[in-house]
Amino acid sequence: MEIKKEDFIERDIISVDSLSVDEVKSVLDLAKDIEMNSDVFSNVLNGKMMAPLFFENSTRTSSSFQAAMLQLGGKVLDFDADRSSLKKGETLRDTLKTIQGYRPDVVVIRHNKDGSAKFAADVLKPCVINAGDGQNQHPTQTLLDLYTIKEIRKEIDGVKIILAGDLKYGRTVHSLALALAKYPDCHLYLVSPESLKMPQVFLNLLSKAGCSFSEHDLEEFENIISEADILYMTRVQRERFPEGLEGEQAYGDVTKKYCLKLDMLKKAKPELKIMHPLPKVNEIQDEIDDTEFAYYFKQAENGLYIRKALLVLLIGGRKNE
Ligand code: CP
Repeated sequence: MEIKKEDFIERDIISVDSLSVDEVKSVLDLAKDIEMNSDVFSNVLNGKMMAPLFFENSTRTSSSFQAAMLQLGGKVLDFDADRSSLKKGETLRDTLKTIQGYRPDVVVIRHNKDGSAKFAADVLKPCVINAGDGQNQHPTQTLLDLYTIKEIRKEIDGVKIILAGDLKYGRTVHSLALALAKYPDCHLYLVSPESLKMPQVFLNLLSKAGCSFSEHDLEEFENIISEADILYMTRVQRERFPEGLEGEQAYGDVTKKYCLKLDMLKKAKPELKIMHPLPKVNEIQDEIDDTEFAYYFKQAENGLYIRKALLVLLIGGRKNE
């Protein structure tokens, strides 16, 4: 089915579920066009403004959205949550309504509360892009992950992918698993410590979508690595463990067992690629960065093309008010 650019104008991007496989293809195709022909797109968002509201730390998502907007000829509102009046107790709702008054065309929001992006979309008139809401979803990461998988394998269908690490709190794997469930013949190997297994609610959604998956503990890793096309590593999300000594202990117990070393890849296919949404901390041995397996820095670069494509689709066709 052909998707028209008009189908995207002024839409909110809150969850990957709201995008069909055909719509995802449109985003990925445009991102590839932008990657190959960046000059053609250098001024298409002239006169448009993005408000990046990052209430949680970010390097890649915030920087790539800002770079995307600037390289497309648009402008970026300077908002720093740490210097904002939130610190004086202002509510998120009042902050959003205030920012809306400064006429952004698009609001990009990251917040540590699940559902915060949906809340922002309900409050705001301009379109809202979810840049990560708590443990819930990170749809633009998923789009760049799908773009990267396609870049590596030429197609997404049939990918055999290991999702490893913090499958409990990791929003990137929640979003990616649900997105892959829409593609035929994929298999997801869910590898995690017992305490960080994929939540049942997501397993139920995968089953309902007819997605093939299997759960494994860390000790089984070397039995399944030979079957994988992609190894998708994730960071253990320290910030989402409970506060205090108990959380500290639980985090320490998990991280001391969870580190990918080069010799664990002995049985891997030569063409295996390792992806990681980044930041990585201690879960990948440094020497792997210099091998042909490592693909995570190109993956991070791909975020620029995907975010440019989304901005063009959402606000590129909109007339200035
Ligand atoms: N992958 C990702 O979301 O990275 P940042 O937290 O640095 O934005």
